[in-house]
Amino acid sequence: MAIQTILRMGNPLLLQSSASVEYFNTKALEHLINDLWDTMRANNGAGLAAPQIGVLQQVVVFGMQSNSRYPDANPVPEQVLINPTITPIGDTTVEGWEGCLSIPKMRGLVRRYEAIRYTAFTPQGELFTCEAEGFHARVVQHECDHLWGKLYPMQMHDMSQFGFVNMLDAIES
Ligand code: NI
Repeated sequence: MAIQTILRMGNPLLLQSSASVEYFNTKALEHLINDLWDTMRANNGAGLAAPQIGVLQQVVVFGMQSNSRYPDANPVPEQVLINPTITPIGDTTVEGWEGCLSIPKMRGLVRRYEAIRYTAFTPQGELFTCEAEGFHARVVQHECDHLWGKLYPMQMHDMSQFGFVNMLDAIES
């Protein structure tokens, strides 16, 4: 287990699509997942995707009880998703502020599906399905986007709503 360096926007690895995990219940996969948790927690993140530590495999971790980076967010259960797929529930989208450990000190307003159903494998290779809404759904959509080479600014439709955290705080206060 180790805290890994998080790649930052501008690194071309963050723009690539990740490969499906083929072998489950392996030491290598367990090691990768432990590294993701360690690195996410050390950086106070709400989630982290394998490509953010330079591993182009479809693995994400997320979850938090409370997070100073997202003080208004509801708790999100801790979960590992391997080879995930997302299906929107309904057409409703909502805007919300997002940050990303690969884009430090920035925030942007991003439109996401309000409710989703997602399917993924556990580290042991068991398929499961969950439903999520609100911030939980937003985190899943943000993290899974990393697996398709998408960073949140690429999903924004109004770049006037993108900026440094301390300046946005100044606007809000
Ligand atoms: Ni991110």
